[in-house]
Amino acid sequence: MKVTHIVGARPQFIKYFPISSAIKKFNGHFPENCIKDILIHTGQHYDYAMSKIFFNKFGIKEPDYHLGVGSGLHGEQTGKIIQKVEEVLINEKPDIVMVYGDTNSTLGGALAAAKHHIPIAHIEAGLRSFNKYMPEEINRILTDHVSTFLFCPSKTAVKNLMNEGFKNLLYGGEILPVDYCLQGTDVGSTKKDSNNPFVLNIGDVMYDILIYAIEIAEKHPIILEQLQLTPKNYYLLTLHRAENTDNMERLEEIIGFVNDISGDKTIIFPIHPRTRKVYGNAKKRFVENVKIVEPVDYFDILMLLKTSALILTDSGGLQKEAYWLKIPCITLRDETEWMETVQGGWNILYKDYNGSHNLKDVNGTYYGDGKAAERIVYLINEGLHNLLR
Ligand code: UD1
Repeated sequence: MKVTHIVGARPQFIKYFPISSAIKKFNGHFPENCIKDILIHTGQHYDYAMSKIFFNKFGIKEPDYHLGVGSGLHGEQTGKIIQKVEEVLINEKPDIVMVYGDTNSTLGGALAAAKHHIPIAHIEAGLRSFNKYMPEEINRILTDHVSTFLFCPSKTAVKNLMNEGFKNLLYGGEILPVDYCLQGTDVGSTKKDSNNPFVLNIGDVMYDILIYAIEIAEKHPIILEQLQLTPKNYYLLTLHRAENTDNMERLEEIIGFVNDISGDKTIIFPIHPRTRKVYGNAKKRFVENVKIVEPVDYFDILMLLKTSALILTDSGGLQKEAYWLKIPCITLRDETEWMETVQGGWNILYKDYNGSHNLKDVNGTYYGDGKAAERIVYLINEGLHNLLR
């Protein structure tokens, strides 16, 4: 079987890593069913700190195709991705295309595959903010509706898809047992029925990678020395969403909020290139204890998070990572796709924040057990064999 993965933006390099590891493991166990792994990097992110560093740090293979699409308006960027991915798909003829998350690379890749009737697996399906002003929301909805395998990270994601009319839910929306995935009894039994995609709750691949990476991060806490930080005596800040950076009034409101909260704490702010550009034009400035630094790699951000007293972020991934590492989080948005973290008291939307968190014990996890990637690989193997029969 030939699987083509489409990645292009920072969080996708991270999500691809556990999948590629699970494929290697699968190929070791089942050489007769060997999965050929083809990696397409759209080039949406191109700065070293946003792209190459992740390949180096995770030891991910060099992309088989680098499309170099670069920056641009949404239509331009997505259009280039569709056009260039299509060329590769025609050349490679994969059995399945895997897309990750909610970026323009996700949607562009999915549309190119759908038009060529190639089954699509969407990793992180079913998330909704119910805010169509976010480009990510448009990308998610459209990608889900052209996909064949909808790999959901949570029950909330499953519920969202059910509400949109998807019907082919496996295992009642509970997390699929790994053994079940390996046997794949029901997956694909409807044969080539692309109008009836499979909705599968498999847990979150980001949890898989966190379990692996935090151990490594803790062995190499150099970033704390480099930035001269004392554990639990600083806050972490990240900010990059278009909804926050493309509107100066909103950006300045958030700068004000961060300044108010800082008190005597240092705030470390690894700045996204998009935010660096617009911050240059902002009249309101961060106070002195907000230290702006270059973007950091995944292991360093985990270490910075783990020893922080609090995180302020508009990133989806960091909200969950904070929850898993038991760090209180303030989300710099008006809504979140990760409502479970809010219900547990670990995450608060910034407009609801009144000076403290109401932390509850986190028993177990809402996002699986760290074996999501393994499930995905078993399921596409079983599901595709049935589907293509
Ligand atoms: C994208 C995703 C967002 C994801 C984020 C992770 C979309 C619509 N958004 O946002 O969901 O959370 O990636 O980082 O796909 N730029 C650089 N160097 C780079 C990359 C970007 O300078 O390596 C600048 C460019 O000027 C570009 C701007 O940042 O125009 C925005 O980049 P873009 O890829 O459009 O979206 P992100 O903000 O990174």
